[in-house]
Amino acid sequence: MKTSYKPDFLERITQRRAALRADVAALLPAPRPIVWEIGSGHGHFLVGYAQQHPEKYCLGVDIQLERLERSGKKRDRARLANCHFLRAEAREFYNVLPAGVTLAEIWVLFPDPWPKARHNKNRLLKPEFFEGVAGRAGEGARIYFRTDHLEYFREVESALRTLATWKTEPGAPWPEGTVTVFQERAPSYHSLVAVRTSHPAKPVEIVAPGLPRPASPTSPG
Ligand SMILES: C[S@@+](CC[C@H](N)C(=O)[O-])C[C@H]1O[C@@H](n2cnc3c(N)ncnc32)[C@H](O)[C@@H]1O
Repeated sequence: MKTSYKPDFLERITQRRAALRADVAALLPAPRPIVWEIGSGHGHFLVGYAQQHPEKYCLGVDIQLERLERSGKKRDRARLANCHFLRAEAREFYNVLPAGVTLAEIWVLFPDPWPKARHNKNRLLKPEFFEGVAGRAGEGARIYFRTDHLEYFREVESALRTLATWKTEPGAPWPEGTVTVFQERAPSYHSLVAVRTSHPAKPVEIVAPGLPRPASPTSPG
């Protein structure tokens, strides 16, 4: 079924994507591997991680401005040059990554679980997402996923099992890091580490629900 979008909506999305592309190009002017945190929230994890790993370039994206502002303040207090935060929807960010930028680590800590069945389509971590990001992740890249929502956890485990590009590593060590706001609130949680295999990734379009396809296809890095 073909979706039709109103011209002013399309215009706004096009402008937003162009602005995001320019912001990301300014932050990532040179080809490099990055640590990408999706839904970085209040920045606790990424600021701590960037501090522990000054050699890693860490970039957190979130859609909530107020959380990003707090994150930026934490980063500034810690005087970190290797830690950045950007307001972006994860899939939109992915689609404007400059060529040559690769995803060395992808962190997703306590993503919104969208618990109602009719909202399941809004969940970020789907097979097409993992296959898509595999296109920008070299062999040995890692996904670190943690959630307190068992059903989402199981869904992610199953999604990864269907793909040759990622292999889960049960029992893999979880790098030390600052506890996030949502982890602190969670009575219990589940963690998963997946490693990028050498299997070539299929070209997959990653589009957020309700948005039109990006104008230019994602180029492998
Ligand atoms: C449940 S909170 C977890 C925040 C943090 N990771 C933690 O553990 O405290 C989920 C975060 O993901 C952000 N978020 C939700 N959907 C997103 C998306 N599609 N792209 C980027 N960030 C998103 C929300 O704004 C929120 O800050």
